[in-house]
Amino acid sequence: MRIEIAVNGERREAEIWAGESLLFALREHLGLPGSKNACEQGECGSCSVLLDGKLVCACLVLAAQADGHEVVTVEGLGGDGRLHRVQEAFVETGAVQCGFCTPGLVVAAAALLEQIPDPSDDEIREALSGNLCRCTGYAKIFDAVRLAAAQ
Ligand code: FES
Ligand code: FES
Repeated sequence: MRIEIAVNGERREAEIWAGESLLFALREHLGLPGSKNACEQGECGSCSVLLDGKLVCACLVLAAQADGHEVVTVEGLGGDGRLHRVQEAFVETGAVQCGFCTPGLVVAAAALLEQIPDPSDDEIREALSGNLCRCTGYAKIFDAVRLAAAQ
């Protein structure tokens, strides 16, 4: 089947199998490998994207469900050749190690700051609770979100 999705502000079309996930379509048909596939079960958050502004695990959404909708991936967060402030904060605070979790965490943190510009630690913890990181111990990720909120 053919689908049309507004991805990162651009109308994109893809020929997909009806059972394909949005994550697979983004990575394999639309040339957007930023969203990572670490579990494909909705457990890790590495595939987090915004679907009509709502944070979702792209591995749990069918690409067909996104037909006619808007998707923002980590590639589309920044603008005019600039990183999003959350991305800059992750770099500045050293919140990236292997980087596998980073795209999902960046999208989740950006979504949090859209809703709550100055979140408490509990609100950060709650917002990022669906995103697993095996490397950092989360302290620097929290620093990054606090830094981005302060900017
Ligand atoms: S790959 Fe989607 S939640 Fe892990
Ligand atoms: S930096 Fe390696 S999983 Fe988070």
